[in-house]
Amino acid sequence: MVETALTVNGGTVRVALDPRESLLDLLREQLGLTGTKKGCDQGQCGACTVHVDGRRVLSCLTPAVQANGRSVTTIEGVADPDGTLHPLQQAFIDHDALQCGYCTPGQVMSGLACIAEGHAADDEIRESLSGNLCRCGAYVGIVAAVRDVARREES
Ligand code: FES
Ligand code: FES
Repeated sequence: MVETALTVNGGTVRVALDPRESLLDLLREQLGLTGTKKGCDQGQCGACTVHVDGRRVLSCLTPAVQANGRSVTTIEGVADPDGTLHPLQQAFIDHDALQCGYCTPGQVMSGLACIAEGHAADDEIRESLSGNLCRCGAYVGIVAAVRDVARREES
């Protein structure tokens, strides 16, 4: 077991980890942060997307021990502590960008990265979110939500 200390959504976490454990399993199984979803567990679907030091990663492919000393943000850390949704979360609701919602946490985390990277055109957004699959086919709403917030941040 490897002693590991990381920050998760602003709080310090100290755990002893099996080096084979994924960041996704640490978040869901040990820390109870089940907003991050396990879709394929093979790097194919994007449902497990979180941010590590501000960059998006697929947590199913990331060994949890690699997060030692780093800052992890999950979907639970996106809204304000008072419960006010992040503008991108609100935009997903406003643009009807989800149906079952299983892919949505990953879509939001990738959308936030897309906006931070300065992508606001539809084709750029589609390319940036191409690793996030939605079986419900809510892509039109997802692109509209990201575009909406990206353009508001530009102006
Ligand atoms: Fe990680 Fe599908 S669960 S990419
Ligand atoms: Fe159902 Fe995307 S909303 S998979």
